[in-house]
Amino acid sequence: MVQERLKELLAEAEKLMAKADNKDAVERLRVKYLGRKGELTKIFKSIPDLPDSQKPLVGKSANIAKNKLEKLIKEAFQQAEEKPQASPASFDPTIPGAPPPLGHIHPLTHTIEEVSDIFRTMGFTVAEGPEVEKDWYNFEALNIPPDHPSRDDFDTFYVSDHILLRSQTSTVQIRTMEKNEPPVRIIAPGRCFRPDTEDARHSAMFHQIEGLMVDENVSFGDLKAILHIFAREFFHEDVEVRFRPSFFPFTEPSAEVDCTCPVCSGDGCSTCSYSGWLEILGAGMVDPNVFDSVGFDKEKYTGFAFGMGIERLAMLKYRINDIRLFFNGDTRFLSQFSL
Ligand code: DAH
Repeated sequence: MVQERLKELLAEAEKLMAKADNKDAVERLRVKYLGRKGELTKIFKSIPDLPDSQKPLVGKSANIAKNKLEKLIKEAFQQAEEKPQASPASFDPTIPGAPPPLGHIHPLTHTIEEVSDIFRTMGFTVAEGPEVEKDWYNFEALNIPPDHPSRDDFDTFYVSDHILLRSQTSTVQIRTMEKNEPPVRIIAPGRCFRPDTEDARHSAMFHQIEGLMVDENVSFGDLKAILHIFAREFFHEDVEVRFRPSFFPFTEPSAEVDCTCPVCSGDGCSTCSYSGWLEILGAGMVDPNVFDSVGFDKEKYTGFAFGMGIERLAMLKYRINDIRLFFNGDTRFLSQFSL
């Protein structure tokens, strides 16, 4: 009788085990047969009550059954582990995929486009020049001869004796005037390089936009008007602009141009060191020596030029306090500028 029961139990266990497709189900079956109150355990517990003649035989059969069950359970556990948990039926190919993250233009590219658009409305076209330059375009033609102390202001990466990474976009003034006759009205955005130690305000690679206008009767008044319009369009219509006398080798007279602080509107704050003003660019009337370098008639023509740092403009406009954020590739920063 007991032998029959053992056979039944094994057959049943085998069937159920084949269906158990996860570890929990196998564990439930283990408890059902081998647990403290399990089916097989019950049989073991009943052995002492059997007639002595049956005890060894039943004991032996029960042990064999137990070994078989344990083997079954072990195998079932292994199988459940190998099986993927989700059943194939739960895969729905009609559900739309996760959308790939969309990129957007870099905040500096955006700023270059914004500035370029403003100058385009005033008749300027966009010119470009190489980043690896000749000494002539970065210095000599711009009235900065080899031993001139102002070369130090434009600290430079040299590739060889006369080849360098341009330290300013003023190079494009010369390239443009060499190829064209007046009138000239261009802006030139681009990358520049200086061996500066990087910190919150300095980067060895940065961007500038140069401007140049040459024609008969171009005056300092024209320069003031155009830069005022630019500042109003770029920052705010109430922004004020002031010119401070300065020196650049390629302009005479030269000026540094400030605008009222876009953060505090001139009241004074930590951004403008409580002065109410912020420097935004350098500018001036084209030095006659520069006209000589490119063969323009300095008696007939006058012109103005200006140059500004793009990072600085973007930092002021978007209240960014560390220039390195533009370049370290951290999308947590960049993704805030899907402008
Ligand atoms: N190139 C100058 C610099 O890198 C900026 C500058 C000043 C450009 C005056 C100009 C200018 O065209 O007229 O600091």
